[in-house]
Amino acid sequence: MKRVLSLASVVLSFAFAVSLAAQATPTPAGQAPTAGMIIATDADYAVHMKEIGQLNGVLNKSIKAGTADEATKAATRLEVLFKNVHGYWNTKKVEDATTAAQTAVTSLQAVQKALAANDMTAAETARATLAGTCMTCHTAHREKLPEGGFRIK
Ligand code: HEC
Repeated sequence: MKRVLSLASVVLSFAFAVSLAAQATPTPAGQAPTAGMIIATDADYAVHMKEIGQLNGVLNKSIKAGTADEATKAATRLEVLFKNVHGYWNTKKVEDATTAAQTAVTSLQAVQKALAANDMTAAETARATLAGTCMTCHTAHREKLPEGGFRIK
């Protein structure tokens, strides 16, 4: 009986140690950014850009296909992400990048307004302005790494 009990306690304490270890694990990278989140690390920044890249594709396709609901959803989320990106560059006082991020935000607001008015032509025009900001900022501040991927410069 004593043996059984001590075995049980070993199993229990092991389970406890495992659960502690699980709790100590830092928040996994790739967690969805929230509105107003402060981008504190390069990893946070990359998570934003990866989602931006994916949603930019969705926005492009859905405006061209005329699916306003899907386009509005993508534009709304992109606005949240670019506001965080804007905050990052603004804090670093990098003027051209701050301006590019601000233009992205205002373009996305124009996209949403055009979609609400069911004006797909205006939505496409504003989307093209948004696309211009990607190029501008990447040329100045994105560096391609030899091992693949990108970093901030
Ligand atoms: C204000 C500057 C800025 C703007 C505007 C911007 N980006 Fe970026 N982007 C960066 C920087 C810097 C990197 C490199 C760092 C990184 O990859 O996290 C990057 C990286 C990326 C990556 C690679 C992510 C990775 O690490 O794999 C994608 C995809 C991307 N951007 C998409 C876009 C798209 C699409 C737009 C426009 C709708 C856009 N970005 C607008 C600065 C910007």
